[in-house]
Amino acid sequence: MATTTLTPRARAMRSTVLMKAVMAVSGLIMVGYLLVHMYGNLMVFGGAAAFNDYAAHLRTIGEPMIPYGGVLWVVRIVLLVSVVAHIASAVVLTRRSHHATRGGKRYQSKRARALGVQRTFASFTVRWGGVTILLYVIFHLLHLTWKVINPGGAGDPYGRVVNSFQHWWMVLIYLVALVMVALHLRHGVWSGLTTLGLNTSATARRNLNVIAIAVAGVILIGFLLPPFAILLGLVK
Ligand code: HEM
Repeated sequence: MATTTLTPRARAMRSTVLMKAVMAVSGLIMVGYLLVHMYGNLMVFGGAAAFNDYAAHLRTIGEPMIPYGGVLWVVRIVLLVSVVAHIASAVVLTRRSHHATRGGKRYQSKRARALGVQRTFASFTVRWGGVTILLYVIFHLLHLTWKVINPGGAGDPYGRVVNSFQHWWMVLIYLVALVMVALHLRHGVWSGLTTLGLNTSATARRNLNVIAIAVAGVILIGFLLPPFAILLGLVK
């Protein structure tokens, strides 16, 4: 006999399936943001005017119907809600997983034995990868949004980016962070699309793997092009 005192609605809100869906949708929103952000960063190759115009345009989209910076603030709020929802559901699901298995093995796999029972290196690193990415985003905001960290001096958006990546250690920090982001997406995109019901056959599974690897690869290479081009003196 059921002993819970929760209402059906409260039970549904705590359901693991709902948490997984929240995690998938918030993750996919952030992937969309990353693809747009990556594309925007490539404006660096168009020179100072193109990049600074792009940064300014982000704030004037929709004017005069929408006030200055309005669209950017909507994007920021959606991102913040997504980050909080993603982390909160990750924490709850991780606790449940540990509780269900008493900290033991999650599922059996004949592959990747050195990594325990996890299937891929990407799935093995997904939780600590998430924590690393959070720390990186705080560093990145201090660097390029709040302008607290200014290696090579402050200036316009183009100047700050170009001055920063003339330092090899700055490129190294971004390289490590983006490898973590790519690993996270390799597993996360596959997992999110699976949660949303797209993993229905062997062909679908193969396609999801291709999509996850492609998204991770495009984001890794697309984000790393500007820092390396600047370090190598191709963008000045
Ligand atoms: C080489 C890689 C990257 C470069 C050069 C770069 C560049 C920038 C710049 C210039 C800004 C400030 C935009 C402005 O205020 O005008 C910014 C903001 C931001 N970036 Fe990046 N970014 C990179 C990678 C990433 C990655 C991998 C993430 C997420 C994991 C990320 C997340 C953000 C966020 C959340 C903001 C704040 C958006 C806002 O509030 O305006 N960035 N980035």
